[in-house]
Amino acid sequence: MRLSDCHNIDDFRLLAKQRLPWPVFDYIDGAADDELTKARNTAAFAECDLVPDVLAGVGAIDTSCTILGRESALPLMLSPTALQRVFHWQGERAVARVAQRHGLWFGISSLATVSIEEIGAMGDNPKMFQFYYHKDRGLNRSMIERCQAAKFDAIALTVDTIVSGKRERCARSGFTSPPKFTASSALSYALKPRWALDYVFREKFALPNLDTHVREGTGEAVSIAGYFNTMLDTHMDWKMAQQLRDDWGGKFALKGVMSVADARRAADMGIDAIMVSNHGGRQLDGSRAPFDQIREIADAVGGRIEIICDGGVRRGTHALKSVCAGATAASGGRLYLYALAAAGEQGVERAVTILKDEIERGMKLMGVHSVSELTPDRLRWR
Ligand code: FNR
Ligand code: LAC
Repeated sequence: MRLSDCHNIDDFRLLAKQRLPWPVFDYIDGAADDELTKARNTAAFAECDLVPDVLAGVGAIDTSCTILGRESALPLMLSPTALQRVFHWQGERAVARVAQRHGLWFGISSLATVSIEEIGAMGDNPKMFQFYYHKDRGLNRSMIERCQAAKFDAIALTVDTIVSGKRERCARSGFTSPPKFTASSALSYALKPRWALDYVFREKFALPNLDTHVREGTGEAVSIAGYFNTMLDTHMDWKMAQQLRDDWGGKFALKGVMSVADARRAADMGIDAIMVSNHGGRQLDGSRAPFDQIREIADAVGGRIEIICDGGVRRGTHALKSVCAGATAASGGRLYLYALAAAGEQGVERAVTILKDEIERGMKLMGVHSVSELTPDRLRWR
């Protein structure tokens, strides 16, 4: 299979599976427990149908929208994901360049393999820093100050990882940050020489936003579960989130809100956005899918807080359905990660272009001229 054979996100998944050592592929593709929520996240979009208008004259349409005060060329954000250097040597830099070219929001994780400063200096497209609330208060302060200095546009506090989900594929493979070549996994890495040579001989793996304060994850190989359960502060609560928002002083989102009650509380606190998300099914398996939850959250707080439908998006029409259901936009991780892992920047460019074309084609076939016309009456629930 080659890059030119990739015509949708699932094709990129197959190419990534072909090119990655299986522990790395399973870290991206895997989720928690029985992976029911990961599957539902995408299946949920098939539970409703789009009702198109015709003869609408769609020679010129506008796919842009405003997210957290910044224009986005599409109602789609590239969600923050960790360890991208492990998936492809070009890592977050590749994704940042594609996001810049397409005028999209791009988020880097606390566990990014490039620095806040470097990403902050790349292009003028809007950038989000995803914040993990660490026990180490000096580290928390450092990340905020670095984002302020690098003029990031928003911080998203991830709130659904108070403890790690049960990542059984990673438990089986022994996947760690940085990757450890154990007896059982060494063969899987050796059988992917292109990946192995890039990983060994190109830029050294680092977590530059964390290794100023902690060794875990760089100087000391740990599983993601181990990192979450030892490094993050399980006491994190609404008061601490509010203090973090005040310390940051800029646009602030909570990533991982799922309940109406929490959405209301976030809106009452004046938080700018919620990313309705279950972390791609990697945390609480059995959790409801973000798209299933969007309508009741939009009914409760629509217009008071921005709502991002995060997770399961694999088609442009999934983003269109998310907005019709009441979201400001959709977002996703695997929708670009499979492509990054499969073919670096070229892969991400192709994947984002495919999604852009699917959004444009979908809007035209719906008879819609702008994102504001993507309203609930254009959906019929089965
Ligand atoms: C993630 N996600 C994630 N979220 C976060 O807040 N901080 C992080 O560091 C990461 N890291 C990460 C790594 C990998 C490999 C994946 C697949 C996901 C979750 C991510 O931001 C997003 O919520 C999900 O990926 C959405 O689901 P889809 O789009 O992947 O189906
Ligand atoms: C994950 C963490 C890093 O889902 O958010 O792997």
